[in-house]
Amino acid sequence: MKILVTGGTGYIGSHTVVELQKEGFDVIIVDNLSNSYANVVDKIEQISGIRPIFEKFDLTDIEKTNDFFNRHSDLDGIIHFAAFKAVGESVNDPLMYYRNNIGSLVNILENMRIHKIANLVFSSSCTVYGQPEVLPVSEESPILMAMSPYGNTKQISEEIITDTSSVTNVKAILLRYFNPIGAHETALIGELPLGVPNNLVPFITQTAIGIREQLSVFGSDYNTPDGTAIRDYIHVVDLAQAHVVAVERMINNKGKKDVEIFNLGTGNGFSVLEVINSFEKVSGEKLNYKIVDRRAGDIEIVYADTTFANDELGWKAKKSLDEMMLSSWNWEKALAEKS
Ligand code: UD1
Repeated sequence: MKILVTGGTGYIGSHTVVELQKEGFDVIIVDNLSNSYANVVDKIEQISGIRPIFEKFDLTDIEKTNDFFNRHSDLDGIIHFAAFKAVGESVNDPLMYYRNNIGSLVNILENMRIHKIANLVFSSSCTVYGQPEVLPVSEESPILMAMSPYGNTKQISEEIITDTSSVTNVKAILLRYFNPIGAHETALIGELPLGVPNNLVPFITQTAIGIREQLSVFGSDYNTPDGTAIRDYIHVVDLAQAHVVAVERMINNKGKKDVEIFNLGTGNGFSVLEVINSFEKVSGEKLNYKIVDRRAGDIEIVYADTTFANDELGWKAKKSLDEMMLSSWNWEKALAEKS
């Protein structure tokens, strides 16, 4: 079975390639390396013993994309990760986000239609729910107006896939991620944020290792037990395994609808301070942090209702918050040893 993983040298993509290889899939990675490095392919090979095929090009380039699919028209499935993902950047340059995230998806769908490739797994986000009125948030929760062009690209992409599926051979599983953190147990692959990280966990580990001076905790006046905002953090390897299950479900024609949607979280919400406490416990490091004002655009609480993913997909996140924080810390330390 041959699977295309777009964005396969990126954070979630690279972990998914490893899990696919473990299950016996042949993997082809396409990535333009705009936010990742070619040597991730070597790391994947070190972990799995199998070198995935890697082609470097930009999926917004229709000629290169068409040429790729002409050579690989026998794909059994596509997992599409390749996309820009920085919320603030998307606010400053919305057209770059629409061109990249929407353009590449349209090019892929066009080729799926032409070459009769049926199965697409798409990276979506819990950002489509905004601040849900009912918690935990299920797949049936209303989609709220996007708070950023990045979030909007996820909403529009879900609609484009659904519209396309209703009139073509294309079937899809849309996976709405909560907050992916952690790294592979080998510490050979993990998250590599460019510049100053926006996300909490890379900022924590970079502060502890000395790259950043101090972590700012954005807001302590939320309506939560300790006043800091609550998220559903999920280990990237658990997340990666869900993609394997999803693609197998499609290949084996087990899907109940042409487009299915699953939340990928643990179902547990943790506050920023709980995340910091877990980090300090597993690392033995004291973290330098201070409480500052809320970050504009942040929501108060979100965590997943995972019933549908657990029952229907037959997948469940296994790793605890402590395991997630330890693997993130081991990854940061491995990076420091190399530099
Ligand atoms: C962010 C994005 C979301 C995206 C997700 C995955 C925003 C508003 N949302 O989610 O669209 O899908 O990343 O990449 O950017 N925090 C601190 N200090 C920090 C960083 C974060 O206190 O230096 C807090 C935040 O206020 C939040 C929590 O930590 O309460 C998690 O933040 P983050 O990792 O940025 O994820 P989200 O904001 O949930």
